[in-house]
Amino acid sequence: MGYTNILIAGSGVLGSQIAFQVAFHGFAVTVYDITDAALDQARARIEKLKPLYKADLGASDEALEAAWARLTFQSDLTQAAAHADLVIESVPESVDIKIDFYQKLAQAAPAHTIFATNSSTLLPSQFAHATGRPEKFLALHFANEIRKNNTAEIMKHSTTDEQVFRDVIAFAKEIGMVALPLQKEQAGYIVNSLLVPLLSSAQKLLVTGIADIETIDKTWMVATGAPVGPFGMLDIVGINTAYHIARTRAEHTGDEAYQAVADLLKNNYVDQGKLGKAAGEGFYKYPNPSYMEPGFLKP
Ligand SMILES: NC(=O)c1ccc[n+]([C@@H]2O[C@H](COP(=O)([O-])OP(=O)(O)OC[C@H]3O[C@@H](n4cnc5c(N)ncnc54)[C@H](O)[C@@H]3O)[C@@H](O)[C@H]2O)c1
Repeated sequence: MGYTNILIAGSGVLGSQIAFQVAFHGFAVTVYDITDAALDQARARIEKLKPLYKADLGASDEALEAAWARLTFQSDLTQAAAHADLVIESVPESVDIKIDFYQKLAQAAPAHTIFATNSSTLLPSQFAHATGRPEKFLALHFANEIRKNNTAEIMKHSTTDEQVFRDVIAFAKEIGMVALPLQKEQAGYIVNSLLVPLLSSAQKLLVTGIADIETIDKTWMVATGAPVGPFGMLDIVGINTAYHIARTRAEHTGDEAYQAVADLLKNNYVDQGKLGKAAGEGFYKYPNPSYMEPGFLKP
């Protein structure tokens, strides 16, 4: 089944990007958030996306204005959901908030409406019951800066209907995404199942004194041809996120190396405001990090 009306629930960092991407590809989009103030912030965020769509995708003024005209903003869930064919949920990463949201959405949305969560770290089976329609529920996970980093990981849980899975894969392609189907639930999807162990290993190599930051990155870049190494990637992800992951791992495993990573990130980076690329400094200094200098990879 093709979808016509898309509801984006939660209009923060990711929700506002998803809303504009979907509208840009011709769908009618309702943006829902709990307050009008949050919706005003979403409007401002989406306004800032327009020049980026021009620069990165060569979008015309006409296409951008047409996308903007397809957006409706709504802080009443009953009205927002009334005509939705597909809801993409991007509310905060909290089990309680998401369960509460799905219970309300289940009452407000028509019976045919498909629900998809953009949660990064929680599994659809944690909310399937609250949706009241587990067979019409799955994960549709985007990456930050979705216009460029256009992965869409589409993940079933154990009772997601096969046709719903196929329809959401087709929808992801229609909105310009590279659709990446996951046949079973997997914490971290594919991308973080690959990335988190790599980044954790790099940080452990550093804190155990095996090698320094530039040597580790250089190794990865020369050996694999990748344009950036693990510490360059950590700067892009943000050191705060890396710190929270290391601290949680240290607490859950008692692993001393994870604790050393958490301490290093907190004392030498987070507390110093060196939060990564967006802050101008993390493991490297921006806009010209040493790993991008012409001589960095030379013999
Ligand atoms: N930020 C990222 O890079 C990223 C990437 C992929 C996926 N995600 C996922 O997207 C989701 C949202 O993350 P974010 O970074 O956009 O968060 P955010 O805090 O920027 O935005 C959350 C929005 O949800 C709103 N909200 C709060 N309670 C709500 C409710 N009950 N109903 C509707 N809206 C509500 C908030 O007002 C806010 O506008 C999370 O599940 C996160 O894991 C985030």
